[in-house]
Amino acid sequence: MIKAIRGMRDLLPPETARWQWVEQVAREVFVLYGYREIRLPLLERTELFARSIGADTDIVGKEMYSFTDRKGESLTLRPEATASVLRAVLENGLDKGGGVKKLYTLGPMFRYERPQKGRYRQFYQINCEAYGVEAPELDAEVILLLLNILKRLQLGEMRLLINSLGCPECQVKFKAALGLFLISREGLCEDCQRRRTTNPLRVLDCKSVHCKEILKDAPVIRDYLCADCAAHFARVLELLSRFGVAYEEQPRLVRGLDYYTRTAFEVVAPGLGAQDAVAGGGRYNGLSQELGGPVLPAVGFAIGEDRLLEVLPRDPLCQDREFKVFLAALGGAARDRAFALLQELRQHDIAAEMDLEGRSLKAQMSVADRLRADCVIIIGEKELTDNKAQVRDMTDAHQQSISFAGIVDHLVMVKERRANVEEILNQTPAPR
Ligand code: HAM
Repeated sequence: MIKAIRGMRDLLPPETARWQWVEQVAREVFVLYGYREIRLPLLERTELFARSIGADTDIVGKEMYSFTDRKGESLTLRPEATASVLRAVLENGLDKGGGVKKLYTLGPMFRYERPQKGRYRQFYQINCEAYGVEAPELDAEVILLLLNILKRLQLGEMRLLINSLGCPECQVKFKAALGLFLISREGLCEDCQRRRTTNPLRVLDCKSVHCKEILKDAPVIRDYLCADCAAHFARVLELLSRFGVAYEEQPRLVRGLDYYTRTAFEVVAPGLGAQDAVAGGGRYNGLSQELGGPVLPAVGFAIGEDRLLEVLPRDPLCQDREFKVFLAALGGAARDRAFALLQELRQHDIAAEMDLEGRSLKAQMSVADRLRADCVIIIGEKELTDNKAQVRDMTDAHQQSISFAGIVDHLVMVKERRANVEEILNQTPAPR
């Protein structure tokens, strides 16, 4: 039997209902903040990622799914969305006209990493990108938006880690100081020995325990920020505090991509082991010019959906709770009548299913149970003669005879009544 590729999972029902719920909540929050959706190709020119994410990063160096197409062009399955969204913005002139431009996108990303808990080769991100404004208010707003999504999804424990990576001038000074510090250190891993001269910032992102130990005494970028970058960062932190956001300054947080300038942040959650970042992002003011575009300040984040779903509570809110009807029919003529009723119910927004295989009533009732039907409509020869069907409420097993003409109205009413009860239950504040 042919199996799925290592690190690439099938997402199956009923779990997919949770994914839909997460995405629906994210979409609702994006709308509140004025974001609109953009959908992009999964394949881009390799050069796009090499130039934006950085040649020295693990992503570009070891993790891209790249191949040469039939015309000899190197293409890559996107390892992230930020570069693609910006490519599309510049290509389609979405940056024109001034003001802030806000876009979000959802979908799969591909990285050839070693699969483990919370780390897949095809994984899913919810991406948020805002362009055109340098003000620290936008950094704060993007972080507040992210936390708003996570809060609505009832993510319990989480920590917001934040740092400023400064502007290119700050980074030049800091890299020189860091490079100097690293040059005399023994025992760095092979990658870091190379990176300490090519791109010392990347050493800060190394996962090796040994390299981390060496870095304990390394200089921190905070001490190299220019006055403007320091003021920008102070304002972001002030705004977060004002809105009650608890954050932890992490002076060694650099993130795994080269394009960040100024604010960089991650949200980590317990229960994920080594892969504890559920979201990450930051400002990337220089990327547009790097890609041949105009000056275009930008800030954004991506939520890792796979990891998020792993730590979200299995809350009943995200269960598949659609009001459902099952039609149990006995005999050819009854099945024919039921089939017509089935279509009518769906026209009235009632989810309905029936048996198409002529099974016994007992077998059909057990299917209704398995589907967790709210009501079952039973139609046999007698019901056809009486022009009435048996309607059984599965919550209390109450059964009544209702004329065919009145069944749809009856079920619409039952469905509405259920929805009202649920709304009241959901409004009840959670016990403290
Ligand atoms: P990133 O930190 O590389 O940032 O990825 C964001 C999130 O995607 C991570 O925090 C993690 O939850 C999830 N993720 C990454 N790799 C994997 C994997 N192999 N398996 C499962 N989940 C994974 C970015 O991608 C940036 N483009 C974020 C950004 C948007 N910055 C500015 N705008």
